[in-house]
Amino acid sequence: MRLQVLHGPNLNLLGGREPEVYGSATLEEVDDAVRAVARELGVEVDILQSNHEGVLIDRVQEAAPGVAGYVVNAGGYTHTSVALRDALVASARPFVEVHLSNVSGREPFRHESLLAAVALGTVCGFGAESYTLAVRGLVRHLTEMNREQ
Ligand code: DQA
Repeated sequence: MRLQVLHGPNLNLLGGREPEVYGSATLEEVDDAVRAVARELGVEVDILQSNHEGVLIDRVQEAAPGVAGYVVNAGGYTHTSVALRDALVASARPFVEVHLSNVSGREPFRHESLLAAVALGTVCGFGAESYTLAVRGLVRHLTEMNREQ
């Protein structure tokens, strides 16, 4: 089983970016934690960070044939990108929406997610752990799906 993890804009700045909101873990540390949980669960994982909407969309499309699902922190694109949502729906693969911060407790413009309604689920507010929880939830879902087939 292979998963694609996508980090959207500004997540390359983790560690130094508003640490009181996003925590002190760097993106590299987040990715290490994701790889560790993937190893523990016996799944493969590809990880991409991009500040560009089209690059994220291209990766969703390119990865689709080879991956069982996605873990997506779309950053600010969560609240704006119809195109990223459309790409994820077109992939016909489940994805988990991730946020480090609890977006529901923040500014009103962060309360709307264009991804949430088409996601398998959303994990937010647990800092870097949001990603590992999302990987666990997605793998469990995919494993159950495979068992039922
Ligand atoms: C974020 C929340 C978004 O609202 C914000 O634009 C981000 C990070 C999070 O992980 O908490 O860039 O997705």
